[in-house]
Formats: sequence, structure tokens, C-alpha cells
Amino acid sequence: MANPYAPLLQPGRIGSLELRNRIALAPMGENFGGLDGHATERTQAYYEARARGGAGLIILGTTAVSWPSGTSEPHQLGISKDEFIPTLAAVVRRIHAHGAKAAIQINHSGKVAANDRAHGREMWVPSVPPELPPNAAMRTITPQELSTFVGVGPYPDRYRVMDEADIAQMIEWYAAAAVRAQQAGFDAVEVHCAHNYIIAGFLSPYFNQRQDGYGGSYENRSRLMREILTEVRRRVGADYPIWVRLDAQEMHTPGGIELEEALQSARLCEQLGVNAISVSAYARLTCGSDFTDAPIPQKAGAYLEYASAFKRAVRLPVIVAGRVEPEAGAAAIAAGEADFIAMGRKLLADPDLPSKLQEGRAQDIRPCIYCYACVSEIFVNRGIKCAVNAQTGHEHEAPITPAEKSRHVLVVGGGPAGMEAARMAALRGHRVTLVERSDRLGGTLFFAGLAYPENGRLLDYLVRQMKHPRIDVRLGTTVNAALLDQIKPDEILVATGARRAAPAIEGAEQNHVWSGDELRRLMTGDRADEVARAKLSLTERALFKAGGMLGVTDSAVALQNLSRLWMPLGKRVVIIGGGLVGLELAEFLLARGREVTVLEPGTHPGTELPIVRRWRVFEAVQAHGKLQLQAQVQRIERKQVVWLDRKGQEQRTEADSVVLALGAEPDAGAAEQVQALTSVPVRRLGDSAALGYIEGAMHSGHHAGRTV
Ligand SMILES: Cc1cc2nc3c(=O)[nH]c(=O)nc-3n(C[C@H](O)[C@H](O)[C@H](O)COP(=O)(O)O)c2cc1C
Repeated sequence: MANPYAPLLQPGRIGSLELRNRIALAPMGENFGGLDGHATERTQAYYEARARGGAGLIILGTTAVSWPSGTSEPHQLGISKDEFIPTLAAVVRRIHAHGAKAAIQINHSGKVAANDRAHGREMWVPSVPPELPPNAAMRTITPQELSTFVGVGPYPDRYRVMDEADIAQMIEWYAAAAVRAQQAGFDAVEVHCAHNYIIAGFLSPYFNQRQDGYGGSYENRSRLMREILTEVRRRVGADYPIWVRLDAQEMHTPGGIELEEALQSARLCEQLGVNAISVSAYARLTCGSDFTDAPIPQKAGAYLEYASAFKRAVRLPVIVAGRVEPEAGAAAIAAGEADFIAMGRKLLADPDLPSKLQEGRAQDIRPCIYCYACVSEIFVNRGIKCAVNAQTGHEHEAPITPAEKSRHVLVVGGGPAGMEAARMAALRGHRVTLVERSDRLGGTLFFAGLAYPENGRLLDYLVRQMKHPRIDVRLGTTVNAALLDQIKPDEILVATGARRAAPAIEGAEQNHVWSGDELRRLMTGDRADEVARAKLSLTERALFKAGGMLGVTDSAVALQNLSRLWMPLGKRVVIIGGGLVGLELAEFLLARGREVTVLEPGTHPGTELPIVRRWRVFEAVQAHGKLQLQAQVQRIERKQVVWLDRKGQEQRTEADSVVLALGAEPDAGAAEQVQALTSVPVRRLGDSAALGYIEGAMHSGHHAGRTV
């Protein structure tokens, strides 16, 4: 049967550059460079892994043409001096070794040069940027995060409104950088004309308020881009591939760039001899849900329609990013609506995605769960990471190697930590028996998949990985002496999750009050009958069975849909606890038409969520429900929750149902019980060892599986 992804996998061409397929690693400033702007071993190994995984084109993230000036991140790479060439050349060699082509995005961050701001350097701008409106989502940032937050320093903002000499300097920086890229062996250069960095800043009618020949009319605003591209082309020669990244739109920006003008820029670039257009988008505020509209969208295929508009406007190849699933990418290429798909987060989650598509193993691709853990790290000045792929950013450390001696590993608990540990151990040649008490794999991930369907895809992936011939999964099984005697494990990994003790709140024992654990058990079928008997009326139990909850075993997505029809919660729901669990549950219930109030005792909500995902959930809950911080719950009555606000005033909130989303803690109980039965070493992982939710589970499972 023909490969359904064939359009993505066919060779392609950008100018003189021939590419083995249509998948590019989207440019991502990974923040792995040295503080001297050089590509470190970590940088090199990270890019090499993405080339090894089969992408046709690797585009290095934003690289500073005037390092350290114009940098956004402290560990950003530089290309502003010849001394940067050798380490960049090393990256290129490692990419080429795997048959991929290498491009580099050259950039000056302009007003977004957070690293300039942090160091009190001048930020180069077309004109002093307008004051931006405050964003409530920033209130979710904790003092600790703020202490390392990007761009934060003791200095007042200093802007350098560029004069003509500065403009000439900027052109020279870009041109010299492009020549260095060529000297380092890069196959192409991407000139960053998007995301409100310096060139986009000039293009933007919102940000560019100049009165001279570089401001005002489109012709004037595009002059800097024109002069840079002209000089770059002159210096690198007619045949060297160069392309631009453009914003199709500046979203949420009154008077910002609109599609028509972006298409005009694309036509201009075509006339200037540029070889392709890379389509992205931007929003004025780099925080809150604006940021998850652009440039790093939550919506799948967010910019595909833009791409097809660009395809109609120019004859150049069009590259498009923005959560493009392989199916959608293949369809867009087949329909002539795009030529190349740039994938960012997907290739952090699984660098081998292109090879897996090629080999007909799409079902083995580890999915991105769109948790924004990667880019959230950039906001606190750290290198990127991936919640589902513990190896991202650690490729330079020990590679995965087969175990010296194959052993029998018993994994207790079939949640994400247990499954990831089993997967890794089996991959290394061990034999694994995984036992799970309930009749379904997934543990807390199943519940997390209900609240946020993206998590359900990780569950489906992990469950599929359990089909490995060296993994024996036993559902409905608990560990006892007979089992240990029968399977005789050499090592035991316990991943049975956290304990959620019910907090001592007066009234918490009532039937309309649910602990997170009870809800989880009911919805996921883990000893659900017990909970149903205790908490539900006869009618509710009948509904529950009719809803088929207990019958759904495979996919959290299916359960998501079912739960739209039926859930054991009334119209007005109060959630006590505004951490990760409480907020995601609130988002989930709001989407199901409930009136939700979240009462959080602390000063900051959702602190366990990565910053960017937290912004989004916070805004959703604020917009459609209520979130009360520093709320001390006094008691739960039959129809009301009584609580004290931050001023100590008593408040009452109507509630048909109450969910307790507080008090999760690591749980050594199961591990201790197992250890009491055997002298075989027992190790705890995932939430049973330390609360870390999906990321903690995936990473600790990975490490455990690598070290057994
Ligand atoms: C961690 C991270 C860093 C990024 N850095 C850059 C960058 O340096 N330059 C750029 O043009 N876009 C950058 N982006 C945007 C990506 O290139 C891409 O357009 C975006 O992530 C949407 O694609 P995706 O849904 O496949 O991730 C970054 C995205 C992420 C997640």
C-alpha cells in the first residue's frame, strides 16, 4: 500500500538546494550555546539527532548577527565574528553526516532583545515602541520565576532609535553573517523577517512610527528588508539559497501587519531573488494566550490557510509551521497549498518522526502534548526541554545502549512512569513484566487525557509501546508473594502514583464532594464500582452504566467525548485547589458547560504547569469561570462552600458539586509493601517518588529504564 505520507516524504527543492523530503526542523532558539555565543557539544548533538531522525532540512534557531547585542537569550548562538565559524561548521558537519541539509536563521532581535534589556544595553528599534497593555496572565509568574525571567534586570529600558548609520551597520551585520554562514558550510540562510525582531519591527505599521524614508508608507517600511536582502544576495552570490520568514499577520495588534501586506512582502522578496517564503505569524504580546495564537500556536494547522495564500501570491516554494500534523502537512502539499512543513515541537518530542513516517511506523511517533514545557524554559533563561522526551537537550550525554546482561524487571503500576520505564528497559534488552491493579493502562495519564485531550495521544502512544515482545502486561494484578515467586524479578520499579489524602475540611465527607482520586477512579474505571456505590444514587449509577464509562478502555479521546454527555457533577462546581489538577479540571468542566469557581489557598495558580500553558489555562478559567486566590475554605455545606477571602471576609459560593484538588503527595506505601515481600531492590519512580506529573513521570521512567 502506498505510504499515506508520500507527499511529505518526496524530495523537494529550494533554489539550488535539493532536499530529501519536505520536512524541516523549524528554527528554534534552543538556548544550548555557550555564554560566549558558540555552538557547544550540546548544541551539536541536539541538531545531529534531528538530522539522524530523517528531517530533510535542519534550520538552526535565531542566531545573532551582532552578538551579544541583539540577542534574546543568554545562550543564543552568534555569527557576528569569524571566530564563530568553526563551531558552526561542526554543527553543519554533524547534520550532513546524516544526509540532511543545514540552514541557519540569522537575526537581530531589535526590541525583543531581552538579553540586551537584562544587561542594560540599548535595544535597537525603528522607533520607541508603544506601551503595551498589561496582561493579567503575568500575575501567574511566581517570584522565583521572576528572579530569572527573561529580560529582567536592574536597568531601565534603553532604546536606540536607529539612525542612518545604524541602518547601514545593520545591513552590514546581516550581509557579513550570511557570508559566514556560507563559509561555515550551511546550505542556506533564513533571514528572520518575522516575530517583531528588527526587520519585522520596521515592516510593522504598528511598531514602526518613523517619519523618515524608513517609516510611513509600505515602500518605506520595507526598505530595510529590501536593503538587507539586496546586500545579502550580492555578497553570497546568485546561486546560494536564501529565504525569509514572514509574519502572515500580526494578530491582536491594532493596525499591525495584515495578510495583504504580508503577501506584498513575499512578492517583493521574490523580485529580490529570494528562493522561498517561510510562513509564520506574530502577536503583539509575547504572553498570555496571544502567544499561543502566534507565534507558537495551540490550534492545529493554524497557519495553513495563510500558506495557501502565499502559494497563490508567489511562485516560490512555501514553508509553513504551526502545529501541522503529518496528515495535514501531506494533504497541504498534495493540494499545492504548501511545499515544506516546518515542525518545531513535534521534533522535540520525537526527532525520529520523519524516519517513522518513512518506515510506516506512524503509530510509534511519540506525540507532542502541547504542554509548552519547551518554550517556557526560554522565559526563565534555561535551555529548552521536552516533557515527553527526556533525551531532548541531553543528546550529548550517554547514548542509549543495550544492557550488558538481560534481566527480568518487574514494573508495578501502568501509568506514564511505569510504561516509559518498561519501554526503555525492553528497548535495552531486558524482559519486563508490568502489573497494573486496574483493568486499564494509563493511571493518572488517563485522567489527564480527559482534562486535556493532547495528553490522551501520549497515552495511546505508550499503550502501543507495551505491545513489545519483551513486555508482558498483566492488568487487574497486584503484587503478592506468589507473583514474586512466579516471575522472580531481578529488579522492581514501583510507579503507583501519588496519594491524595482528603484535606481535613468540614463537610468533605458529603456525597456531592469528590476527591480528585474518586473522580479519577470513577471516570477511568479503576475500582469504579466501589466509588459508584458509595457516591452515586441508583439513578446516577444507571446513567453511569448507560453512558458506557466502564466499557471504554482504549482511548482517552473516546472517553473525552463520552464525558461530554455524562459526568457525575452538577451545574455549579467549586474546585478547591488551583494547582495543575484543579485548573485543568476547571478548563475541562467549563468546556462542558459547568459554572466553575476555583478556590486556591496560595498566591499563584497552576504553578506546576509550564508557564505558557499556565497562561492559557488561567485565561480560560478567568474568562469563563472564577478563580479566587488566597481563599481559605472554612467548610462545605450542602449547597454552598464557605471561605475567607484575602482580607479575612467570609464568602459563600453556591455549589451543586465540590471537587477537592488539593493534597497530592508522593506515596511510598506501595513500594514499602513490595519491599517487605522480597530482598530484590525496589525503586520508586514517577509521582510515587516525587510529584512531577506527566513530565516527571516520563523523565523518571526514562531514567529508571535506562539504568536497570
Ligand atoms: C522552543 C521554541 C523556540 C523557538 N524559537 C524560534 C526561533 O528562534 N526563531 C523562529 O523564527 N521561531 C522560533 N520558534 C517558533 C517555531 O519555529 C515554530 O514556528 C512554532 O513552534 C510553530 O511550529 P510547531 O507547532 O511545529 O512547533 C520557536 C518555537 C519553540 C517551541
